[in-house]
Amino acid sequence: MSLFSNKSNGSVDVLSKVLADSYVLLVKTQNIHWNVEGSEFRSIHLMTEEHYNNLFDAIDVIAERIRMIGGKSPATFAEFSKLASFDEKVNSENQTEMLESLLSSHEAIQGDIISGIKQLEGSDDLGSIDVLNSRLAFHDKVVWMLKATLKK
Ligand SMILES: [Fe+2]
Repeated sequence: MSLFSNKSNGSVDVLSKVLADSYVLLVKTQNIHWNVEGSEFRSIHLMTEEHYNNLFDAIDVIAERIRMIGGKSPATFAEFSKLASFDEKVNSENQTEMLESLLSSHEAIQGDIISGIKQLEGSDDLGSIDVLNSRLAFHDKVVWMLKATLKK
């Protein structure tokens, strides 16, 4: 059995969802980067820039992994919106609420990645599991940092 000709293990679906989540989160993160106002402007502006650069690089890695294993990568806003677990809306102009909204999206993607890894456990697609693990490490770190920032 060749991994690269077998799409039935679910890897393409798992990666497509994480790709969509990541793209929507990129848009959401840039929205906050551009539009945040308040006493924490500088730290939020700089932090979100680090995040969107990471997400931008990750999107390419995930999409190319989908191609490597024989899938077709989602590549339109319509597909990303449909597949993602959350939308790009921030729903607040308050700097604290913006960070809370960002945190909830990182937690959503964490959940999708964890269930994706569990789904692929036992399959031969170790490369995709590796991509997912490395994405999880990023989101785990961001969740920790956002929670620390938001602590009252
Ligand atoms: Fe910028």
